[in-house]
Amino acid sequence: MTVIILRLIFLNGDYVVTLNDIARQGANGAAMMPIIQGVGRAAIEISAVLRGAVFRGALGQAGAENVQGEQQQKLDILSDEIFLDEMRSTGFVCAVGSEEQEELLVIDEYSGADYLVLVDPLDGSSNLDIDGPVGTIFSVVKRKTEKSKCPHVSDTLQSGQSVIAAGYVLYGPALMLVCSVGAGVNGYTYNPSDARFELSHPDIRIPETGGYYSVNESNADKWLDNMGANLERLKQETGLGMRYVGAMVADMHRTLLKGGIFLYPADDKNTSGKLRLLYEAIPMGFIMEQAGGKAMSRDIGVLNIEPEALHQRVPVYFGSEKKVNILLGI
Ligand code: AHG
Ligand code: MN
Ligand code: MN
Repeated sequence: MTVIILRLIFLNGDYVVTLNDIARQGANGAAMMPIIQGVGRAAIEISAVLRGAVFRGALGQAGAENVQGEQQQKLDILSDEIFLDEMRSTGFVCAVGSEEQEELLVIDEYSGADYLVLVDPLDGSSNLDIDGPVGTIFSVVKRKTEKSKCPHVSDTLQSGQSVIAAGYVLYGPALMLVCSVGAGVNGYTYNPSDARFELSHPDIRIPETGGYYSVNESNADKWLDNMGANLERLKQETGLGMRYVGAMVADMHRTLLKGGIFLYPADDKNTSGKLRLLYEAIPMGFIMEQAGGKAMSRDIGVLNIEPEALHQRVPVYFGSEKKVNILLGI
């Protein structure tokens, strides 16, 4: 009680809710708070690197391909290094599965720790050169292997039902961290004058009405699973406008706040879809469902898919329950 009183005195009576409040959320908040604080530190560092990248020649391609067969941006690699360092600094993470690393990265000093983190360190990196919004996506699972053993990639292959915490950072006009520990979704915005994240969007719930449909419609003629006809039905029945930024974090954040649906269907080029199950679809699907929305992949809930590989891809249809049901004709 003393701590809170001191803080009230210091801040002229305004009790400011910070990431520390996560410790009081649900059964897992206390265990997850230090890891989410680590994500917050990484976000602040990555945001600073993004804002100064043009002056240090850090934009553009790194000249290497990642395991996805995609050209890595220099900032993909830098963000990955920063994120890994901050996960190490928590002392609670034994290994990290990253979009930018083919294999699981074991944190040797803490190989006995309880948690693994899956991460897309820089989401939407094709937006970097045009100064568009980008993000970081993360989810946390508890290891299955004995603490005495070395963490194994099989520790990451857990369905979304085993996610303990998940969320994303949005590097936009403001720096935001949106996360859930299974007790709803809260949005925190970095306050430069206090140099910390402060609660700005408590208890985010996706609106049932309004919003937009968000999809790269230029692929429509290649979509599988009858998605072309499904989207036409959705447009006819709802009259929704369309918005698409090309960064999942930004498109999903708008869908959460304004309503509507975000989809990335499978097509004849990406027959399993483009987005990665473990560090894009599951964490964002977890957030969508915690915010009262629906997260489907073909005819199964994305959180019920049993992962088979670290970089596995899946189609995604995430949004308000009504819009997802109209899209899928259920
Ligand atoms: P990443 O930059 O981590 O590879 O993710 C990019 C993803 C996702 O952010 C976005 O929704 C999708 O790629 C956009 O794909 P298209 O450019 O094919 O629309
Ligand atoms: Mn991504
Ligand atoms: Mn990425």
